[in-house]
Amino acid sequence: MNILVTGGLGFIGSHTVIELIKSNHTVVIADNLINSKIDVLNKIETVVNVRPTFYQVDVTNELDVEEIFTNHKIEGVIHFAGLKSVGESVSKPLEYYYNNLVSTMVLSKLCLKYGVEKFVFSSSATVYGDQPSPLKEEVELKRTTNPYGETKAMSERILTDIANAHEKFAVSLLRYFNPVGAHESGLLGENPNGIPNNLMPFVTKVAKGELPKLTIFGDDYDTVDGTGVRDYIHVVDLAKGHVKAIENLNKGVNCYNLGTGKGTSVLEMVNAFMRVNQVAVPYEIVDRRPGDIATCYADVSKAEYELDWKAELTIDEMVRDAWNFEQKQGLIEL
Ligand code: WQD
Repeated sequence: MNILVTGGLGFIGSHTVIELIKSNHTVVIADNLINSKIDVLNKIETVVNVRPTFYQVDVTNELDVEEIFTNHKIEGVIHFAGLKSVGESVSKPLEYYYNNLVSTMVLSKLCLKYGVEKFVFSSSATVYGDQPSPLKEEVELKRTTNPYGETKAMSERILTDIANAHEKFAVSLLRYFNPVGAHESGLLGENPNGIPNNLMPFVTKVAKGELPKLTIFGDDYDTVDGTGVRDYIHVVDLAKGHVKAIENLNKGVNCYNLGTGKGTSVLEMVNAFMRVNQVAVPYEIVDRRPGDIATCYADVSKAEYELDWKAELTIDEMVRDAWNFEQKQGLIEL
């Protein structure tokens, strides 16, 4: 299939591009480089010996994006492009609502206009809000705790209504849990601009000495060791889930949790990182982070059954690959 991947130079997008090409799909990438780097395109080419067609565009710009649909016979869209910092969304709500919702509507409008029948959307476990785990897709969604999460929930509803009104427009909503790790080559990984938000990029930068210590947000939760529990999934497993989702997308609206179905605490992640990589990660326990919940992990039975997909890589492989990528940063200039 000829697939348009928006945000295809980002962390999850670039890993998905690699798995799509390995599965003999043709990929066109649209990315505005706001949270990614153009040399990721060179790294993708190095890994798969194919250079995807690339358009540097803002996916909210309908005219620019339409040029892609007129230049290529697009058969499917995987939409990653979006602002994704929970904290930033609280201080910049309009930027998040505009960017994340308008991009989804522009792409949907062009899919209907050009007869594109498959749309895979990058959603998030954040849409569940604070509800008991393991989380099942059918659970009623509650209002999330931040504008970022609201843009994901609203985009899901927009896509659902469009699919219900247009029989030939099929949608797959993929709710990620906590993506971590990196490609085994060490060429691609999570490399956020500036101070990281998420746990693992913080851990790797502390291990490398770029940051003095990790702050662990709270150890008084009702969990195995008091620290927050999350469902960490290797980014390569997540990428493979996207390939299965678009290949098995036929009609209507489909929703899948992409996680491992297992919860791991912050301290368990940090200790695994130190054990596997034999490197120190100094940390300090501080107060809880506002908006955090104690425990969040997936029920993954639906994706396993309907997509014939199951996460295979372990926590040890996640922390190994994350460290391998961080160590190679700056050493490889292509
Ligand atoms: C994980 C755990 C923190 C940083 C968010 C988004 C979610 C998705 C993934 C996009 C928590 C603890 C973290 C640190 C810490 N993003 N932590 N010190 O909050 O589960 O999910 O990112 O789709 O939508 O909500 O991920 O990595 O920020 O936190 O102790 O410096 O690590 O308290 O328990 P989170 P996270």
